[in-house]
Amino acid sequence: MNYNKKNVTQVDVKGRKVLLRCDFNVPQDKQTGAVKDDKRIRAALPTIQYLLDNGAAVIACSHLGKPEASYDKWVKKQTEKGKDPATLTQEKWKKSLDALRMEPVAERLSQLLGKNVILADDVVGPDAQAKAAALKSGEIMLLQNTRFEKGETKNDPATAKALADLAGEGGLYVSDAFGTVHRAHASTVGVADYLPAVSGFLIGKELSIMGKALADPARPFVAILGGAKVSDKIAVIENLLTKADKIIIGGGMAYTFIKAQGYEVGDSLLEEDKVDFAKQMIADAKAKGVELLLPEDTVVAKEFAADAESKTVPSSAIPAGWQGLDIGEKTREKFAAAVAGAGTVVWNGPMGVFEFDKFAEGTRAVARAVAASGAVSIIGGGDSAAAVEQLGFADKITHISTGGGASLEFLEGKALPGVVALQDA
Ligand code: 3PG
Repeated sequence: MNYNKKNVTQVDVKGRKVLLRCDFNVPQDKQTGAVKDDKRIRAALPTIQYLLDNGAAVIACSHLGKPEASYDKWVKKQTEKGKDPATLTQEKWKKSLDALRMEPVAERLSQLLGKNVILADDVVGPDAQAKAAALKSGEIMLLQNTRFEKGETKNDPATAKALADLAGEGGLYVSDAFGTVHRAHASTVGVADYLPAVSGFLIGKELSIMGKALADPARPFVAILGGAKVSDKIAVIENLLTKADKIIIGGGMAYTFIKAQGYEVGDSLLEEDKVDFAKQMIADAKAKGVELLLPEDTVVAKEFAADAESKTVPSSAIPAGWQGLDIGEKTREKFAAAVAGAGTVVWNGPMGVFEFDKFAEGTRAVARAVAASGAVSIIGGGDSAAAVEQLGFADKITHISTGGGASLEFLEGKALPGVVALQDA
């Protein structure tokens, strides 16, 4: 995949209307809807500021959450989740959409820019069209949640064209939505059929840092993988086995590997159908000369709770009726030592249930080791980013990706449709 994409600085933006796709899919307060973590909004500011300073009129857009744009589909999804169809009224569906309107994002963006952000009442409807037509150089507007349009997630050409038409004759499409580049939607891919498409600074930064880590890493290259499921990380493990010098496996996914070594794991997370895969990976690592590090001891608990009774046991002797919730002290030392001399560290997925302080020690120890390593350190978004932030190590990390699923697919070596769609440099 070619990561060398034309950048917003390589085109003239003066006097042009720019449709700017951002990833403003941010966590919100359940009660008030206020933006709880504005990292993704902040990450888009350099591109927005550049466009405004250079005479563009900015039509920003993003999805927020997973609204269901069709009532019937919403009913189907809710029913699948076990809700009683009789209670699924049109009003409830509309309420679910209202909770995902862009007002809180517009408000936060406006505060951060110190500038009014004009908010459209729709995505490509009459209000967005009128506001886009009236938008002047140096002004910014935000469309409503792109997923309110039925055609968005289907990458429907009519939706893509309607979005592009907002920028009008001479318009430009800039994508800075790194967190969404793994989705082939109308606003991330389709629109590039109707407007010249280039990348913003955030996509440029994410691609260059992570691209270099995979293509030409400072060695030793250590990958740390954790999180709940092996099944989420299969392609990542396979790809990293061809690139990394050491792969550290912790978190919930480690128990499937422990089982693959022939041990019982009690009530710990286990994917029986991935045990063979884990065995294969252990063998492949050996054959390729990649050091695969697995937990030697485990903090087990009686139940999944913040104050659960717990003890540390060898990973080869997890007792029945107990579940592993963190890596033990010996393992922390082993993993920290493996990270100590690294040239590059890529980390995706926590080592334990860090949300419970009692079971955060493993993740904390690894975060501390990564921070102290002096390596180029890259944290995939999602849970591992949240862990590093919560535990106070964020400022010691070279790069915390704004992409969760996107950074994972990047590490898998997959072509990312939202990047492929952009013009090459
Ligand atoms: C993310 O949060 O990973 C991106 O915004 C993509 O969101 P999605 O999983 O709802 O497509």
